[in-house]
Amino acid sequence: MKWMLYTYLGKSKVKIPVIGQGTFKFGEDPASAKEEIEALRFGIENGLSLIDTAEGYGKGGSERIVAEATQDCRSNVFISTKVLARNCSYQGIIDAAEASLERLKTDYIDLYFQHWPSKDYEVEETMRGMAYLVEKGLVKHIGVSNYTPELMEEAQKALGGYALACNQVGYHLNDRRIENNVLPFCQEQNITIMGYSPFGYAPELFGGLGFPHEGTEQRQTLNQIGAKYDKTAYQVALNWILRQESLVSIPKAKNIEHIKSNLGALGWNLSQEDVKLINQWFPRPAESMPLEKY
Ligand SMILES: NC(=O)c1ccc[n+]([C@@H]2O[C@H](COP(=O)([O-])OP(=O)(O)OC[C@H]3O[C@@H](n4cnc5c(N)ncnc54)[C@H](OP(=O)(O)O)[C@@H]3O)[C@@H](O)[C@H]2O)c1
Repeated sequence: MKWMLYTYLGKSKVKIPVIGQGTFKFGEDPASAKEEIEALRFGIENGLSLIDTAEGYGKGGSERIVAEATQDCRSNVFISTKVLARNCSYQGIIDAAEASLERLKTDYIDLYFQHWPSKDYEVEETMRGMAYLVEKGLVKHIGVSNYTPELMEEAQKALGGYALACNQVGYHLNDRRIENNVLPFCQEQNITIMGYSPFGYAPELFGGLGFPHEGTEQRQTLNQIGAKYDKTAYQVALNWILRQESLVSIPKAKNIEHIKSNLGALGWNLSQEDVKLINQWFPRPAESMPLEKY
């Protein structure tokens, strides 16, 4: 295994790598299955043992791909998956977890997220379902995704003795809103942040900001900074994200080239001067991450 950085998951003694593998849209196109499985396996062999999936990705196809990639190494891999907001009733979450376990061909989920805050079910009801899953040993750690600090407080209260371990939220150069609310709250409460879409949102998400395009001044700045360290603009962006304490990032593990590139974001540090320059070109906005329910 190559060199890897780890962090503790929430208040637990479980170590997870600071870079994981995202699997959004995996399992949608059967023609891509082989490449997706190969990419995940390459990532695992090189230390990216955290794999993030969801029942909603590829209508369960992503979880099936993860199962294929982890069958002979399950105990060395940390799998997170998510329950859709519309399945977040007490019974709904139990049924959804059981279906995910079947697709993942495993008997436990390392970290189970509520994918989005729900407009139909109270946080307390969903967290009761989460606690039941932990009691039964089907889930090891509880997470939420796209939760504001107010909702995280509500969730932690509802969970009683079980710790809220992680909040998965969008975080990249062009979306720094979590720095104003979610990030400080999680750092204070010892809740891991799992930052998604480190290279900007895909076209089908939130208008798809994407990565700064070649030819723009923002991209030029990232390229110039990268040249000093013999790194690409993508590696600079990921290194900048990972400067935050208690934060892991989950770039999409689409192919081996992307994974090799992501591994190159570790093992070096941007100078304070370069971080300052990046912050000038990608300023922290005034707004906080808003509450959105589905
Ligand atoms: N909880 C949530 O609500 C939520 C929402 C979104 C995502 N997620 C999770 O976060 C993961 C990552 O987010 P994401 O899939 O939106 O986007 P991402 O990792 O930011 O990647 C966006 C695009 O950047 C390109 N890319 C990725 N790695 C690259 C690299 N090393 N070098 C150059 N280009 C690279 C790819 O484009 P090309 O295809 O053009 O190469 C990719 O489709 C997802 O897979 C999912 O697991 C969670």
